[in-house]
Amino acid sequence: MKATALAPANIAFIKYWGKRDEVLRLPLNGSVSMNLSNAFSTTTVDFSPEYQQDQIELLGADFTAKEKLRVIQHLDRIRAIITSSWRAKVVTQNNFPKGTGIAASASGFAALTLAAAGALGVKLAEKELTILARRGSGSACRSIPDGFVEWVAGPLTGRSEDSYARSIFAADWWDLRDILLVVSDHEKKTATTAGMERVKTSPLLVARLRRVPARIVKIKQALAKRDLQLLGTISEEDCLEMHQVMQTQEPPLDYTSKATLKVLAAVKRWRQQGLAVYFTIDAGPNVHLICEGRDKQNVLQAVKKMKGIQSIIINKPAQGAHLIQEHLF
Ligand code: DP6
Repeated sequence: MKATALAPANIAFIKYWGKRDEVLRLPLNGSVSMNLSNAFSTTTVDFSPEYQQDQIELLGADFTAKEKLRVIQHLDRIRAIITSSWRAKVVTQNNFPKGTGIAASASGFAALTLAAAGALGVKLAEKELTILARRGSGSACRSIPDGFVEWVAGPLTGRSEDSYARSIFAADWWDLRDILLVVSDHEKKTATTAGMERVKTSPLLVARLRRVPARIVKIKQALAKRDLQLLGTISEEDCLEMHQVMQTQEPPLDYTSKATLKVLAAVKRWRQQGLAVYFTIDAGPNVHLICEGRDKQNVLQAVKKMKGIQSIIINKPAQGAHLIQEHLF
């Protein structure tokens, strides 16, 4: 009863920040993202009547007790579908450092959902898998479908089944790059779940929520037309607005560092010099540079001249979570 899944992290052009239901992980707004080819989790799950308890292991780093519990609660959701009482051994590996604002919870819970469902023989359609992955971590639902993905929030009074993710364009639709500049690989201070619980204390939240639906329409148009200027402009706007919401929460939450702000200033400068490149940042100091494949070398050339960049991860749009044959144990 063993299965292994590989799931990409994803970068959101329209961000998810705030839940209308914390238990069901129902978001306050819809979001749109792209799967990342070079930042992913691989997870093997084995269910057996022999195991006395669930065993959870992260290769190359440690899970905290709280993180292990979150994984076990997710296994319980999957076991409940077929009323199985079998315990599991779970081994997972990320190819990028934990807690840096590269969404390890997105790729991690997407891989866990697919591997656990596969190992238990639970047959679910993609939409159901996204709903299940969402219960583990909201952004994980966007790592299940292919390529460019929309997470539909569902009506405010809606139920769990109304909030799911779907592919809007396949990975090969547009030759975009996400050049991720790692300026820090230290774990972030406040986890996203805890940070988001305070979102309603920001006076700017209501204004952002009012503006997001029109932005989602525009981002989808930008993707349909492969219009980088529109995609970049709207996603920078939404990214900055999400960070302003975070920064005006009580207590204020600032995920950016001096190095982050230096990169943002550089991106604006490069654009004035004619380079088509845009930034976005999640819940951490690292900066994602969005450009087209044909501009990759020019962007890397510009980046090379900067100090304080610890590493660079170059991503293309990627397929969603899928089962693979090689197990981790
Ligand atoms: C800033 O999905 O990590 O990356 O649902 O509590 O697990 P939980 O939150 P999570 O939040 C991601 C927030 C973000 C923006 C985004 O990816 O949309």
